[in-house]
Amino acid sequence: MVKVFVITYSTYGHVNTVAESVVKGLEKGGVEVGRYQIAETLSDEILTKMHAPPKADIPIIDPKNLPEADGFLFGFPTRYGTTPAQVKTFFDATGSLWTKQALAGKPAGFFFSTASQHGGQEVTVFTSLPILAHHGIIYVPFGYAHPHLFDNSEVVGGSAWGAGTVANGDGSRQPTQKELEIAEAQGENFASVAKKLAA
Ligand SMILES: Cc1cc2nc3c(=O)[nH]c(=O)nc-3n(C[C@H](O)[C@H](O)[C@H](O)COP(=O)(O)O)c2cc1C
Repeated sequence: MVKVFVITYSTYGHVNTVAESVVKGLEKGGVEVGRYQIAETLSDEILTKMHAPPKADIPIIDPKNLPEADGFLFGFPTRYGTTPAQVKTFFDATGSLWTKQALAGKPAGFFFSTASQHGGQEVTVFTSLPILAHHGIIYVPFGYAHPHLFDNSEVVGGSAWGAGTVANGDGSRQPTQKELEIAEAQGENFASVAKKLAA
């Protein structure tokens, strides 16, 4: 069975909530899912000052396990409009896989969270693409594959670049039903691409 890893970094849990819908969609699409999180790099002191809750009970991904997957969906919050340092640190530990191009030809997509509606959802993915390019990983966008992406009647996170949520500066906004439906559709669409590439 084709295997897709859903790998997240989340400080306050929004990305992990979106990930649950992504997983649902992947399973609906008929792939096996491995669920992992990226290790924290901030000190407990800083996390306490940030009012970060305890980490979710999700296994931490080891770079050496990446080749087991046929594809990856990475979820993370924006940091100043780009990739969080935790995610960069994780990829900085994948040099031996890069040397062997062990991940080349596998597909990957992204989903994300920002505090504000225009806080950098699209640019967060855009500026993460070089990591995929250097590994030879094939970027799979979501496209406009769900009608909610055309809905301007309310704030709806996500775009052609993937599912997303808008958390508010204080984290008080939780992923909405529409955002979660987009996330599920991204999972299902990604499963179909991963299965075709693995065939
Ligand atoms: C150092 C730092 C930088 C951030 N930069 C941005 C930003 O550029 N734009 C934005 O909308 N939110 C920004 N945020 C807010 C986070 O994206 C927000 O807390 C996150 O999306 C919530 O997701 P999580 O609950 O999965 O951690 C930043 C947060 C931190 C701690």
